[in-house]
Amino acid sequence: MASSWSSSSLSSWSPRSSTFSVSSSSFSSLPPKFKLPAKPRHSAFHVSAPSLTSLSRSPASDRILVSGRRGLMSTATLPLLLQLREFIEGSFPETAAELNENYLTIIKEEIRKVVSKGKAAGMLRLVFHDAGTYEMYENSGGMNGSIVYELDRPENAGLKKSLKVLEKAKTEVDAKQQVSWADMIAVAGAEAISICGGPTIPVTLGRLDSLDPDSPGRLPQESLDASALKQCFQMKGLSTQELVTLSGAHTLGGKGFGNPNVFDNSYYKILLEKPWSSAAGMSSMIGLPSDRALAEDNECLRWIKAYADDQNLFFKDFKDAYIKLVNSGAKWRSP
Ligand code: HEM
Repeated sequence: MASSWSSSSLSSWSPRSSTFSVSSSSFSSLPPKFKLPAKPRHSAFHVSAPSLTSLSRSPASDRILVSGRRGLMSTATLPLLLQLREFIEGSFPETAAELNENYLTIIKEEIRKVVSKGKAAGMLRLVFHDAGTYEMYENSGGMNGSIVYELDRPENAGLKKSLKVLEKAKTEVDAKQQVSWADMIAVAGAEAISICGGPTIPVTLGRLDSLDPDSPGRLPQESLDASALKQCFQMKGLSTQELVTLSGAHTLGGKGFGNPNVFDNSYYKILLEKPWSSAAGMSSMIGLPSDRALAEDNECLRWIKAYADDQNLFFKDFKDAYIKLVNSGAKWRSP
């Protein structure tokens, strides 16, 4: 494994088996038609006025009020200074949280320019295929943008298109402040869900990108039965409930779980009907073998029924499970 680090701000985390970059990992291992992301530029958000702010707050600035002629001058200029400070503090965000919020807004805006309802399913699948390589016991893989190096794997067929769409948005964001692929994909999945009428999911920023592909063979195959699916998810730190909840993502896309562009609980309602077992024709095509397997397992069935009965519960649990998924194995930029 490569062991070089591309950024000085990575000191807070020491790599075990992978290398990570603070910036976007590039498409450097992809065919040449993928262009490298823009070089980092200075961020518009780095503008601040620490000197003025600290001057008006420092004990020294209080002292100048009582220091003779200079003091009088200072008294005269103080309202001006205070106005200036008010202007500066009112104009620029002060806290890291505010900076983060503005940055997130820009990322979401750029994503919404390129992700329509028709492209939402691909975005959400991208999230699972990046994060789903996480292996809890080894603490490797996960939400680290390594999907950009893994597009030629059979399980990732079709995802190059989605990543290309997202790349447009990423280039725009990078021009203002660099964003990792991992953050970009995590936010894109959440936006995709929201665009299709699903829950609003808050996504924390700051994930680092890996410079290497993750180990292959970690995503579940569609032919697995319920107990193998449970085991596979358990290796990722995800419970049986979370397996059922996250599989509800299949409500988007063309596997026959209601409107392909609407994020709702039809996945569970249709699983309960088991259309594949009785009907011929199109109905027999509904669902992947892994979806059907969930409906055959009693433990999973409890959650399937609960979500079929209560969409709000599904939305709440999906939000929590999604946050867990996009934080799986993530390495974070130091604050
Ligand atoms: C439980 C194990 C899972 C298996 C075996 C599985 C497998 C698959 C397969 C084979 C497809 C069809 C791909 C195609 O049409 O070519 C698919 C589609 C999809 N998967 Fe999964 N998946 C699983 C879990 C998840 C999870 C956890 C998510 C997200 C949280 C997810 C999101 C999606 C989405 C949104 C699609 C539709 C993509 C589209 O139509 O463009 N999947 N999945």
